[in-house]
Amino acid sequence: MNSMSRRNFLDTACAGVLAGLTTKLAAAAPSERVRHALIGAGVQGKRHAQMFSGFGDCDLVAICDVDPERRNAFAKRLPNPERLAVYEDYCHILDASDIDAVSIATPDHWHTPLALAALAAGKHVYVEKPCSHNIREAQMLAQAAAASGKCVQHGTQGRAGKAFQEAVAFMRDGGLGKVRMAKAINHQHRPPIGREPETDPPEGVNYDLWLGPAPLHPFTKNRWHYNWHWFWDYGCGDIGNDGIHQIDQARWGLGVNLPNAVIAAGGQLYYNDDHETPDTQTVVYEYNDCHLMYEMRLWTDYSLEGHDNGVVFYGDEGKLEFGREGSKAIFKDGKQKVFGAAADILDHGRNFIDCIKANNPGGLYAPIEEGVLSTVLCHLGNVATRVGRKLHLDPITGECKNDAEATTLYAREYRRGYELPGMS
Ligand SMILES: NC(=O)c1ccc[n+]([C@@H]2O[C@H](COP(=O)([O-])OP(=O)(O)OC[C@H]3O[C@@H](n4cnc5c(N)ncnc54)[C@H](O)[C@@H]3O)[C@@H](O)[C@H]2O)c1
Repeated sequence: MNSMSRRNFLDTACAGVLAGLTTKLAAAAPSERVRHALIGAGVQGKRHAQMFSGFGDCDLVAICDVDPERRNAFAKRLPNPERLAVYEDYCHILDASDIDAVSIATPDHWHTPLALAALAAGKHVYVEKPCSHNIREAQMLAQAAAASGKCVQHGTQGRAGKAFQEAVAFMRDGGLGKVRMAKAINHQHRPPIGREPETDPPEGVNYDLWLGPAPLHPFTKNRWHYNWHWFWDYGCGDIGNDGIHQIDQARWGLGVNLPNAVIAAGGQLYYNDDHETPDTQTVVYEYNDCHLMYEMRLWTDYSLEGHDNGVVFYGDEGKLEFGREGSKAIFKDGKQKVFGAAADILDHGRNFIDCIKANNPGGLYAPIEEGVLSTVLCHLGNVATRVGRKLHLDPITGECKNDAEATTLYAREYRRGYELPGMS
């Protein structure tokens, strides 16, 4: 598919959304086996491929990546490589009528355009977090997913697994008394990235397709695999990278959606390199009767708080800690109640396949409407950090009151050939 037809394809996907279509795309009857494909064969794509090719009732039938080294080396490592179709261009995957579902594990600037196109092509979608590059895209994806009737799982796997589900139920039943604050903690040591000169892209790489909707910028090693997270054109900083897991769990535990106001501060207090996004960030989300705080440091090691990255919920009877190793409540009399270990991505992927087979989007652990809300919280944290003042919001729509500069950051411009209608 050339870039012109790619554009038409996205136009078609979004025109349906904008017209408010509620017609469900023909829902495929749940089959015995799900035929799955992967878009983006990087670090996380590898996890997806191993996971979906490891389930007994799912066949990984195709992968694509714009980097030939990654897609080819990667394909060889999978079981039955001879049965796997390998492409540079995702359009081949979307065009294949016998593919039921796709994983999207590309950089963030591609997430929503690909998810919209996949839904328009009638696929179920597992989209990595954050599901969008900005707030407008998140809103658009929520509408398209609801209109499609397809299973759209968000890559925030922190809701999977019985232990955390039980801990949240315990807290919601009043186990900690009145809970008025949750702190989402993301502190870890991420090494500086240095400064990289502009060069030609590696041979054979389709850098134009890697950029897709993002502005044309000369290639540098830092604006490429993984380190793209730290550039606003492609990523959302670490709040959208790792912080979103803790923010999603905090929002889930508190049982809240969008806040009334957001206060934030952040910047480069530690790195002196190509990074554009903050290495230090603090955000407070104000709700009617509680606060959700996000605290990020990318220059201290794990475990300084006594646990890995995690969430602490504070009630007037005690606190509840979520960490990767598990969760426990600590009461004011010193007693403790330990919940089990955290679930991993396998439970999340399994849940996706089960919901596809049962034709049951309502059974997803991280349905996209929840993923969208947590993604919007991350974007709001970045918008408030970048404009440097408190944002006052309509908590139903998420619109910013009387702040044109902040509202501009709700969207981005799209490179010619990759526009989303109504978005540029
Ligand atoms: N849920 C989790 O715990 C978790 C963990 C790690 C990463 N992630 C998410 O997974 C995504 C990928 O992260 P990563 O660390 O693997 O990044 P990465 O840069 O290593 O991999 C991304 C891959 O996508 C490819 N790509 C880019 N544009 C493409 C296109 N148009 N078509 C096909 N392939 C394209 C790149 O060439 C690259 O190989 C990110 O959104 C990240 O936030 C989630």
